[in-house]
Amino acid sequence: MKLAVVGGGSTYTPELIDGFARLRDTLPIEELVLVDPAADRLDLVGGLARRIFDRQGHPGRITTTSDVDAGVADADAVLLQLRVGGQAARNQDETWPLECGCVGQETTGAGGLAKALRTVPVVLDIAERVRRANPDAWIIDFTNPVGIVTRALLQAGHKAVGLCNVAIGFQRKFAKLLEVAPADVHLNHVGLNHLSWELGVRLGGPEGEDVLPKLLAEHGDAIADDLRLPRAVLDRLGVVPSYYLRYFYAHDEVVRELGTKPSRAAEVAKMEAELLAMYGDPSLDEKPALLAKRGGAFYSEAAVDLAASLLGDGGSPVQVVNTYNNGTLPFLADDAVIEVQARVDRTGATPLAVPELDPLYAGLVANVTAYEELALEAALRGGRDRVFKALLAHPLIGQFEYADGLTDRLIAHNREHLAWA
Ligand code: G6P
Ligand code: MN
Repeated sequence: MKLAVVGGGSTYTPELIDGFARLRDTLPIEELVLVDPAADRLDLVGGLARRIFDRQGHPGRITTTSDVDAGVADADAVLLQLRVGGQAARNQDETWPLECGCVGQETTGAGGLAKALRTVPVVLDIAERVRRANPDAWIIDFTNPVGIVTRALLQAGHKAVGLCNVAIGFQRKFAKLLEVAPADVHLNHVGLNHLSWELGVRLGGPEGEDVLPKLLAEHGDAIADDLRLPRAVLDRLGVVPSYYLRYFYAHDEVVRELGTKPSRAAEVAKMEAELLAMYGDPSLDEKPALLAKRGGAFYSEAAVDLAASLLGDGGSPVQVVNTYNNGTLPFLADDAVIEVQARVDRTGATPLAVPELDPLYAGLVANVTAYEELALEAALRGGRDRVFKALLAHPLIGQFEYADGLTDRLIAHNREHLAWA
């Protein structure tokens, strides 16, 4: 089995490698190619990756290349984890929306649209190369914004599934609180990528007992603290929103808070410099503890599980992924991309049935899906007017004065990445 990781020079990669090493029985990788345009990072990250495999006795071969076509040749699956423009572009996404009184975030709101516009054309070009090299290869997309990028891939006919670590993060956290094995926890996870709610927490199987009320009663404070939402919100809703819902439920508070501290991109850039210095140390042969301060916890385990199911029968039969709606949420078009539990096998992901969604959640899901559709239009076809309409449609923006101000800033800050601007 051969896997390629595009964006393999990411400082996150040792997390992935650590998962591949630990879970080699589930996903027996023979060859792993790290693909990245940054040759210096590839050297550092590739070196550490080999040392992690060696230390853990993994027999797989790890190679590196900056040539996408060479890297994806003969790959059975290709993981996309790239960031166009790096942390510098992310820093902008997190900063200029604040000038208009709107949240500055890498995937939510205007910053997320900027990221989509930079990213979709690059990902589609890579996907085309993957298909040319091997039409049977699966694409696992971690590249944000995952909902919009996955929709772009599926719409272009690619064999793709979108993945995020939010659900596996909740699964692991709840398992710990409940003192059960993670595999015994099944989430009724519903919504879109970075716009989801845990409506139930089932024990033992997808139809098992729902212990969410008990979990909230016994551990509500800990869960609320983690999400930085008031405990009372969780109790009143009776569900657990993902932490991205804080940008909606506490938008103005977040904007005030963001104005008083360095951006997340600035913090991450500092950590990345430290991490890369560590990766260069030939005596380091495991993922450093500092990596745990990044948001990507457990993403390697989610990736192994998904790849194992798409390429064989090694993974969990039901996983939370991003894929076409196909009637699952009846108020959305079939070709909207949703994030829900799905049955995953060699043929791909098929969402499990979801009970009728409360209008409290359905309304926001429908609204953000409309935004995502317009965002994809803007990413594929360009033009100021399409950018403006996507921003006007976003529930956190909505007023033409804001949408206009944000459109001007988005274009000004991203000209070098937008072919049409
Ligand atoms: C979570 C999200 C990812 C996001 C990451 C950011 O893992 O699910 O989609 O990329 O957080 O983490 P960072 O450490 O870069 O802020
Ligand atoms: Mn994510």
